[in-house]
Amino acid sequence: MALYSEKVMDHFRNPRNVGVIEDADGVGEVGNAKCGDIMKIYLKIDHDIITDVKFETFGCGSAIASSSMATELIKGKPVSEALSLTNKAVVEALDGLPKHKLHCSVLAEEAIKSALKNYYDKNGIEYDHHIFPDCENCGHCCSTDS
Ligand code: FES
Repeated sequence: MALYSEKVMDHFRNPRNVGVIEDADGVGEVGNAKCGDIMKIYLKIDHDIITDVKFETFGCGSAIASSSMATELIKGKPVSEALSLTNKAVVEALDGLPKHKLHCSVLAEEAIKSALKNYYDKNGIEYDHHIFPDCENCGHCCSTDS
């Protein structure tokens, strides 16, 4: 079996939603300390719906495919749905990632959460702080790397 699914290769070769939103309502950037890859997500939100989303990823092919798929999964969806997007859902939508590449999908989940947190903070919207990962102290992305 090929190491990467056709969907991964497709999203890697033709990534959807690449770019920048200048007047974004929320921007999130996360990095994986171990591999050095960086992902940035821009969100446009109108009446609680994600009307547009773009990403810039400086990273491996799996990180690019994960960002592309993750943006497709949240586009046009309510904020609450984007908040509950897991890296597992991204991996499933990509028809799988090799085990040693799962951390790349974690980056996508965290970049989206970080952009949503930025949106909440900017707009003074109350939220439960536990729903967002404490990236500085958790080490999750690094610990899943192998
Ligand atoms: Fe760094 Fe994939 S190797 S995100």
